[in-house]
Amino acid sequence: MKILLFASAYNGMCQRMHRELEIEMHSVSIELSANEQQMIKAVEDFEPDFILCPFLKHAVPEKIWRHHLCLIVHPGIEGDRGPSSLDWAIASKTTSWGVTLLQADAEMDAGDIWDTQKFNLRNGSKASIYRREVISTAVHMVKNVLHKAFGNPNFKPRPLDYSNPKVKGECLPLMRQDSRKIDWSVDTTETIVRKINAADSFPGVLDSIAGNAVHLFGAKAEYTLYSAVPGDLVGYRDGAICRATIDGSVWIRQMKIAQQDERRFFKLSSLQVITQQFPNANQFASLRALESRVQNDIKIEIENAVAYISFDFYNGAMNTEQCHDLLAHLRDLRERNDIRVIALMGGEDFWSNGIHLNCIQASVDPARESWRNINAIDDVVQELICMSNKLTVAALRSNAGAGGAIMPLACDKVIAREGVVLNPHYLTMGLFGSEYWTYLLPKRVGDAKAKELIESCMPVLASQAQTLGMVDKVLSEDWSNYHRQLQRECEALAEDENYFSLLARKQYSRMQDETIRPLESYRTYELQRMKAIFDNSQSDYHHLRYNFVYKISCQATPSRLIYKPIPEKSKLFA
Ligand code: COA
Repeated sequence: MKILLFASAYNGMCQRMHRELEIEMHSVSIELSANEQQMIKAVEDFEPDFILCPFLKHAVPEKIWRHHLCLIVHPGIEGDRGPSSLDWAIASKTTSWGVTLLQADAEMDAGDIWDTQKFNLRNGSKASIYRREVISTAVHMVKNVLHKAFGNPNFKPRPLDYSNPKVKGECLPLMRQDSRKIDWSVDTTETIVRKINAADSFPGVLDSIAGNAVHLFGAKAEYTLYSAVPGDLVGYRDGAICRATIDGSVWIRQMKIAQQDERRFFKLSSLQVITQQFPNANQFASLRALESRVQNDIKIEIENAVAYISFDFYNGAMNTEQCHDLLAHLRDLRERNDIRVIALMGGEDFWSNGIHLNCIQASVDPARESWRNINAIDDVVQELICMSNKLTVAALRSNAGAGGAIMPLACDKVIAREGVVLNPHYLTMGLFGSEYWTYLLPKRVGDAKAKELIESCMPVLASQAQTLGMVDKVLSEDWSNYHRQLQRECEALAEDENYFSLLARKQYSRMQDETIRPLESYRTYELQRMKAIFDNSQSDYHHLRYNFVYKISCQATPSRLIYKPIPEKSKLFA
């Protein structure tokens, strides 16, 4: 079938839907414009069998839905309507939520229902639930509808019927800041975390710290009770700040200063915001570093000779200091004799998205900071490539992009969770790329496919990455099952009777590669290209990074997302 995707951005949902539908042998084209004429033109050009809107913030024009079947993925249960579905669901402590596939109609979200599926609503941020539960449910539902409903004369979508007691959803308005507001004198830690979760990653909860209006993101409950006025800052750790509450305290990992007239800000670590952006930063000079079992970006769990190291950096972005920390932890693990396997878990929401573009943008000298950051991440990758006394596993349980999608290839084994999306390319950020990609990628997929992956700038599903050779094994999509299966895989490696011959083989292979071409020369080559880009103030990178960080969209659909007939199409999976 020919399927046209209308979307407000080529986000994780859209990327996965695109690739999953192609695997099912559909021809897919994408239109990102909100302009009616442009949308109509996309329909006329592609002549789709139907239109799917996996992530659309605006309405489909009547001229389109009157003549073409348009199905909308709505992140809510049957009957739920409005632009803040997940926000209200999280705020109201619902334990079960869902996704509904409905037909575009005159009234927004009120069209006939093609299918609806539920999932357990865990404690987590809106973005985390969207990325894990909503995307997965939506993809399976769309595939199911395509198999079971299309071409089935007995299938009829049902109209939305609020008189049906099974229809639990309701039409709710946009959640505004007055509904999100924290009252530090009455709200408990749990309530504060919930309020921030419902607004994370957008728009955040608007609050005030020492007279500065800020949006709060990335909340974690810390039940240590401090003798401080609720709302007051009591300390910091890993860039997060800790604030007292009436029954404990809460970590706030990221903040964004509220827009001031024309001046806009972007997210940074809370500590950076208060110490570098607040005009009254000196008020916080005596803020102290805290110990915490809750707020630890890097965590290590050791079991049965396997060290699981998670590096849960907000949004998967790794700044220079975070790379240094990760490297120090890896070096410590390398020295331990009780560990045979190191599993790199990445973060919960992203495995890694490479260097930290927000921190670079915020620095006084972005070219210099880009250089420091890329060297720091390269050092981590180098450590993994040269880890000769342990077996390493990249546990790709969440999406990864740019250098963060190359870093796993430095491990001996790459074990992905079904449905994970990788974006192993740099050109959308105007970069040549580093992280030893010129060594690691061709080694895994061959020169031709490496070139195509880097140049086509397209996402790759875990299963496709396995076909290509970037991933060794794909395990269950279910979060708990994945972790159980991963543990079995890692422990089997640690207990393998051939463990020492596997290590010897690894050392030999590295030595052979080194003889053919020294590892350092790949790094030197990549970094020369990167330095030229960083040092050129007119390079696309500086401009693209600025737009990315300030969320300035180019409004046009990149040509790579518009369907091209077979001869011109990517031959990656041919
Ligand atoms: N630095 C800082 N922030 C980053 C980031 C990075 N490298 N990569 C992603 N983010 C942030 C985004 O700004 C966004 O922030 P939000 O909290 O305001 O929503 C969030 O992470 C999610 O990213 P988003 O782009 O919405 O996710 P996606 O699933 O649609 O796309 C990527 C994923 C990886 C394709 C996309 O984020 C990307 O291109 N990132 C830049 C990667 C890069 O070029 N790194 C530098 C070279 S190593």
